[in-house]
Amino acid sequence: MRGVVDDALPTDARFLRACRRLPVDATPIWLMRQAGRYMTEYQELRRRYSFEQLLTQPELACEVTLQPVRALGVDAAIVFSDILPILRAMGMSLRYDDSAGPQLEPLGDREPAALSFSELEERLGYTLQTLRLVKRELTPPGVPLIGFAGAPFTLACYALEGRPSSACTLARGLLLAHPERGRRLLAALADTVGRHLVLQARTGADALQLFDTWAGTLAAADYRELALPAARRAIALAREAGVPVIYFSTQTGGMLELLAETGADVIGVDWRTDLAAARRRLGGSVAVQGNLDPAALLASWETLAERARAVLRAAGRGPGFIFNLGHGVLPGTDPDNVRRLVELVHEESPLSGLED
Ligand code: CP3
Repeated sequence: MRGVVDDALPTDARFLRACRRLPVDATPIWLMRQAGRYMTEYQELRRRYSFEQLLTQPELACEVTLQPVRALGVDAAIVFSDILPILRAMGMSLRYDDSAGPQLEPLGDREPAALSFSELEERLGYTLQTLRLVKRELTPPGVPLIGFAGAPFTLACYALEGRPSSACTLARGLLLAHPERGRRLLAALADTVGRHLVLQARTGADALQLFDTWAGTLAAADYRELALPAARRAIALAREAGVPVIYFSTQTGGMLELLAETGADVIGVDWRTDLAAARRRLGGSVAVQGNLDPAALLASWETLAERARAVLRAAGRGPGFIFNLGHGVLPGTDPDNVRRLVELVHEESPLSGLED
């Protein structure tokens, strides 16, 4: 088969072909949090600029987006941004603290309204400008660019709690105590996020990912009631832009079929989920992305290689598989391990989706 990436057209790139469950010449790989503190190039910029400056100055955000593409040879770039500035655009105060992480003033009784396209263009214009710059500077030019947003439920957790909380107890309590207000909040977030994703696609994003990091804190019945309709609404809006949508969540292996009901083209799974089973349960209808444990990148190359091969074996030969981690690259990861992982996946993956 001819090398599909030589054509320099993102739509032909193996990552986008896999999103659409088309045959590929090698398994595509990119990594969540592929830009960031584990890279020396990022640390150098961070000594001179705050995280906030890197996010909001398009030239800097463009540079950080391109760093892992140059250093690692991944099959996609992801725009350097964060899931939380959209909450600031909706009127909440947000501050990134170097040691405590993001801090928001909890929403309390306030009910933020959904933002229009023009409000989003005005308030999050810096990320759109970053997308434009990255599109212009991406080399090789055939590398697709991913835009992203936080999913409504995960954003609601941050809005209600004010800070990262692994169990989201306060947020889940509030959503259950005030179901009508909760539904209005999730609907406003869904419309805003959906529109933000559409804008990113119109500005050059070739694919979109929705991060539902905290979805796994919900029981399946509550997921169905709260997180699912909101994610489905955001994805329905986003898909009108005509690019593939990836839905990522963690600790949701027990409700895979529900995740597919979001309407996403690709379902991202974490390392606690049995990948072979996920492929069997979902493979007929959607592509699957995942799911190497990010901790494997902290191990020796031999251990990492063995774990990466196990992921490739579990994914099998069917069409529609994208290699990724089960969550983001951890600070402290050796960039050389990441580079060798990308090489291994390209060299050892089977041709996928071809007739036997
Ligand atoms: O390379 C990429 O993947 C693109 C950049 C990206 C960032 N955040 C940059 C970032 C992406 C896709 C995100 C998504 C994000 N942000 C999520 C969903 C994915 C996940 O990790 O669960 C969440 C929950 C956030 C919110 C957030 N932003 C937290 C909790 C933190 C602090 C903890 C941490 O990881 O540092 C951030 C800060 C953040 N976002 C950094 C980066 C590179 C670190 C900033 C720094 O100190 O330089």
